[in-house]
Amino acid sequence: MSRTLLVTGGAGFIGSAWVLSRLAAGDRIINLDLLTYSGNPENLAEAAGNPAHVFVKGDIGDEGLVKALLETHRPDAVVNFAAETHVDRSILDPDRFVRTNVLGTSVLLRTVRDWWLTLPEERRAAFRFLHISTDEVYGSLGPSDAPFTESTPLRPNSPYAASKAAADHFVRAWHETYGLPVLITRCSNNYGPRQFPEKLIPLMILSALEGKPLPVYGTGGNIRDWLHVEDHCEALALVLERGQPGGTWNIGGGSGRTNMEAVGAVCSLLDELRPRADGRSYLEQIRHVEDRAGHDFRYATDFSRITRELGWRPRRRFEEGLAETVRWYLGHPQWVRRVVTGEYRAWLELNYAGRADAAP
Ligand code: NAD
Ligand code: TYD
Repeated sequence: MSRTLLVTGGAGFIGSAWVLSRLAAGDRIINLDLLTYSGNPENLAEAAGNPAHVFVKGDIGDEGLVKALLETHRPDAVVNFAAETHVDRSILDPDRFVRTNVLGTSVLLRTVRDWWLTLPEERRAAFRFLHISTDEVYGSLGPSDAPFTESTPLRPNSPYAASKAAADHFVRAWHETYGLPVLITRCSNNYGPRQFPEKLIPLMILSALEGKPLPVYGTGGNIRDWLHVEDHCEALALVLERGQPGGTWNIGGGSGRTNMEAVGAVCSLLDELRPRADGRSYLEQIRHVEDRAGHDFRYATDFSRITRELGWRPRRRFEEGLAETVRWYLGHPQWVRRVVTGEYRAWLELNYAGRADAAP
């Protein structure tokens, strides 16, 4: 059945993958995105000319704009990806994360609720507000701790994670207080095509190809659970379709890797697919640099609830998905050239230039 979805942040990494997958499934998409540094209209090139995709540049915190979009397009669901998303940026500029992730989400919720209350009963019951969150809200695990479940208490450590946890509480409160039919998902680290190269995997791919150092924070022993972005989108589609309002679902890859393992895998793939001119390995470019402040040691996600209730599990193995991702970056030099602009260079200077070397 074709639905109209108001998607926020649909020009970013995961949002654009979602928009393209839902257009392919026959849905109509109203895409509200502020086009911050990580929002990129080129991510939506495949949707160009598709009348089922309406792009609107704007802020989720702009009440008047959101109200007008709701009244004009009368969506069946709102899917909220819009956020500031990079932990290192949140360490340097936390207020921006509060503005978009907390205040923006609260304004969006309030505006959606006011409009939702005007709907006839049947449409009100069928409406959904799907909020995309992260496993980082749970905090950090030790080496042998059990993975996060949906009932693990929230103990966010970075300003990014704290802002996402606050937003989750607001979304839940809108269900408890106003009865808004909300759904919350908490996903582990995503990788795949079109990810802005400030995040680990694309940063390493592009830095390696440019002959630059590969900056591993601290020892590189920190563990992340990697999930391909298209697996994430498949999970979101199931939650939107069949998830019980008020519920929260963890989404994970079951692919815990240390950062050294992940970076090593990127280097090995590049050695094979685009060998260095001098015949040596990209591994030689790895540099251990000063650690991230408050660096979470380990994330691991128990996603048994979504498997049990909705039949979802990740389909792509990390090494396969990573090979496909490396090939995507190698095959899209124009996307890379346009993304690697002044703002990106300025970020590299701000985040990496002052970092001392660290012992491995
Ligand atoms: P991204 O940084 O690539 O994209 C964020 C998008 O939001 C951009 O297009 C940006 O322009 C837009 N945006 C920012 N502020 C906005 C505002 N005020 N109004 C409207 N649009 C705005 O991020 P991503 O990796 O695609 O993450 C999307 C969502 O998924 C986020 O909510 C993030 O917390 C969550 N998430 C990400 C990961 C991951 O590994 N990337 C994992 C779990 C959850
Ligand atoms: P990142 O992609 O920023 O995601 P998150 O912090 O949300 O998990 O980082 C993934 C891991 O890689 C994290 O442990 C920090 C580490 N990292 C580096 O070692 N070097 C880097 O330059 C970056 C960006 C991340």
